[in-house]
Amino acid sequence: MNILVINGPNLNMLGIREPGIYGNDNYESLVKKIEDHCKSREIDVECLQSNHEGDIVDMIQQAYFDKVDGIVINPGAYTHTSVAILDALKSTGIPAVEVHISDVSAREDFRQISYVSYYCFETIMGEGLDGYIHAIGLIEEKLGEEI
Ligand code: DQA
Repeated sequence: MNILVINGPNLNMLGIREPGIYGNDNYESLVKKIEDHCKSREIDVECLQSNHEGDIVDMIQQAYFDKVDGIVINPGAYTHTSVAILDALKSTGIPAVEVHISDVSAREDFRQISYVSYYCFETIMGEGLDGYIHAIGLIEEKLGEEI
């Protein structure tokens, strides 16, 4: 099983940006946490981050050609604006879970719309960095059901 984890804009600033909301752990420790977990589960994982919408579209399209089994995506602020990222996910047909470190449902009105949620089979929010591990578990379950 191979999973692609995509983080969008400003998630490279974890540990620096608004620690009261996003915590003190940096992006590198997030990647290590995901890689250690996936190693223990014998899952191949790749973690990518970009601040650019088109790059994220390219990553999702590439996942199709690379035959990725599942996608975990935190599109950052593009969650609330990007039809292009939604359309890219829809193009691939790859099962995907949306993750937010913070509880976006309890935040500003402009964060209440999520375009990717029209595609993702589950949304996890407010679980901090553990939300990514939760999302990987949901993808494992989903892929298990499909076999
Ligand atoms: C976020 C929530 C978004 O509203 C915000 O723009 C982010 C991070 C989260 O992980 O909680 O950049 O996706």
